[in-house]
Amino acid sequence: MIAVISVSVFMDLYIAMTHPPLHHDALLEKVIAAGQEHVYRFYDSLTEADKEHLDAQVAAMDWELISKLVSDVVLRPVPFELPRSIEPAPYLPNKPIDAATQDIYARARHRGITLLRDGQIAAFVVAGGQGTRLGWPGPKGTFPATPVKKKPLFQCFVEYLRALEARHHTTIPFYIMTSTANHDATVDFFRRHDYFSMPESQIMFFSQDMLPAVGFDGKVLLETPSSMALSPNGHGGSLLALHKSGALSDMRRRGVTQISYFQVDNPIVRCVDPLFIGLHDIHEADMSSKMLPKAFGKEKLGNFCLVDGKIVVIEYSDLPEQLAEARQADGELKFRAGSIALHAVRRSFVEQLNAHGFALPYHRAEKKVPHIDLHTGKPVNPASPNAVKMETFVFDALPLATKSIIYETDRIDEFAPIKNAEGVDSPASAADIITRRSSQWLAAAGIDVPKKPDGSPNAVIEISPSFAIYPEDVVDKYMQVPPIAPGSQVYLP
Ligand code: UTP
Repeated sequence: MIAVISVSVFMDLYIAMTHPPLHHDALLEKVIAAGQEHVYRFYDSLTEADKEHLDAQVAAMDWELISKLVSDVVLRPVPFELPRSIEPAPYLPNKPIDAATQDIYARARHRGITLLRDGQIAAFVVAGGQGTRLGWPGPKGTFPATPVKKKPLFQCFVEYLRALEARHHTTIPFYIMTSTANHDATVDFFRRHDYFSMPESQIMFFSQDMLPAVGFDGKVLLETPSSMALSPNGHGGSLLALHKSGALSDMRRRGVTQISYFQVDNPIVRCVDPLFIGLHDIHEADMSSKMLPKAFGKEKLGNFCLVDGKIVVIEYSDLPEQLAEARQADGELKFRAGSIALHAVRRSFVEQLNAHGFALPYHRAEKKVPHIDLHTGKPVNPASPNAVKMETFVFDALPLATKSIIYETDRIDEFAPIKNAEGVDSPASAADIITRRSSQWLAAAGIDVPKKPDGSPNAVIEISPSFAIYPEDVVDKYMQVPPIAPGSQVYLP
């Protein structure tokens, strides 16, 4: 049985094999060589259990990598160098534009559905992030995200997957990447909710690697006398974690060939989209992406660009203003394609990366990291950024792909990110998008939705994935929609 327990046993075995227990003295030598011996500053005063805990943390780290990152990312960061020639990346439009593309999309949808029916597609959510901006006291996936039923994000995903399974009479294995900081809470949440009625054997949880936060002086921070201040190594760590956790082998055993990658913060994401995966598959791509046309030049989305014939994502903060704002002859933004971190990834591509060894670049994020003072042992809660977290990004694997395509999606249909506690990309903005999406789908089916004077829906409306996952589904269920009273809350189950 491939389930939570067997996976954690597998991980323990893996760790035991790859990290044989090291004697404290050997660990001390390692941290001394890395210039980080202060991590053992309080060692002598610790209990035996705490000593073991700290030794285990130290043993799990790659200190050679940490030394290199301290030097290259913390102390002497190389400024981002804009490639000399950058072109906008080509993409496939949301809807086919002529008979030829109509034919390709029809073939792609058919291909995607065939892969789905054959059980060849897995859903994969990266949920290892710390979600500091949202400030929710628990894994972000447990956040109540929908406007009427307040469904947690994880429930939104499972319900979407179950609806797709029912539609295509298939099973979609669901892989959930956590970090050691939120793993137990995530697994426990699923257990308490009975896996939202997905068979437990279909879900696999595994953790990504962690790295210590490093002060601007290059010293690893301690969170407590017996623990370093660790954070997950970025969503790029998922490509390694899939391999190390045994998830890739599990996929191989199940006959999965395509991985549908998505983030934990979007309640309306199409966790698996047969058309997108089909387009990716018939183009024989290794790793593909969905894009949104940016609303304005400097919108905070990564930019899909073409550099030396390869698709790359250039972060919004790295794309100079004149390029971000550049327009084509027809007035459209030249660099139009924004990344929303949705990817289709061929399993064999991730296997090849891991077989041959790969290294994604580490990015520097300056953050406020609570820690203890090394002299007094007292907690310090910084008011401004005091440390560097080092992270890899999954989109940096795109240029490693031999073939990669980009497919345009529709903003209101698929993008309601929850990043911040308030304002842009917040629970309130996501709830608003969900209502607007529901209202559009209902209106397209000829159903009256009361409007406010500004034209926005005068009701809060949530459509469950079991009711509809595409606008067309609402048309078929027209008779099941009750009249919508102004100011009411409506849930379509
Ligand atoms: P974000 O960039 O939004 O980061 O992650 P975050 O850590 O969740 O939130 P903040 O910045 O602390 O507020 C985008 C996606 O990547 C996942 C997150 O869980 C989210 O789904 N992620 C991020 C990981 O799985 N691991 C990481 O190390 C970082």
